[in-house]
Amino acid sequence: MGRKRPFLTDIKTIRARARKHIERGAITESYRADRATVVKLLNEALATEIVCVLRYRRHHFMAAGINADTVAAEFLTHANEEQQHADQIAARIVQLQGEPNFSPDGLTSRSHAEYVEGENLIDMIKEDLVAERIAIDSYREMIEYIGDKDTTTARMLEGILAMEEEHADDLVGMLEELDQ
Ligand SMILES: [Fe+2]
Ligand SMILES: [Fe+2]
Repeated sequence: MGRKRPFLTDIKTIRARARKHIERGAITESYRADRATVVKLLNEALATEIVCVLRYRRHHFMAAGINADTVAAEFLTHANEEQQHADQIAARIVQLQGEPNFSPDGLTSRSHAEYVEGENLIDMIKEDLVAERIAIDSYREMIEYIGDKDTTTARMLEGILAMEEEHADDLVGMLEELDQ
């Protein structure tokens, strides 16, 4: 039997490795994901979140204008939570030595979810539900792709995914209350 490979890298090697390419910050030699692809995926997620912020804000003000105060308040809560997701994603992109794309040019084509204004309250809720379901599917796919190659990004996306599931659940609840 040959010598078994040690489970953990020895301290000397870890210390030597850490000294190389210190300009890469959090990205060390053991980072196993394809960084460019992860940044690209995260920029698509960022665009999706921004589009969701804009759509929910529009819906918030439109619902407030037709005296649907409870729904309007819920739309605003969702808009603010989507903004937090966008911020988390942008910060992670920078940590991965990428650049967050906040450009309005091409925003809707980078986004997975759509910006639909909706004709009335029911329409708005349904469009938001569709967008959440799109976000749920694309986050799940990203998490599967990243797997255990970048656990920090995967964990962040899992947290966001759980919240999108709550959003979808809230919207279904609203439709039920409105007897739709
Ligand atoms: Fe979100
Ligand atoms: Fe959401």
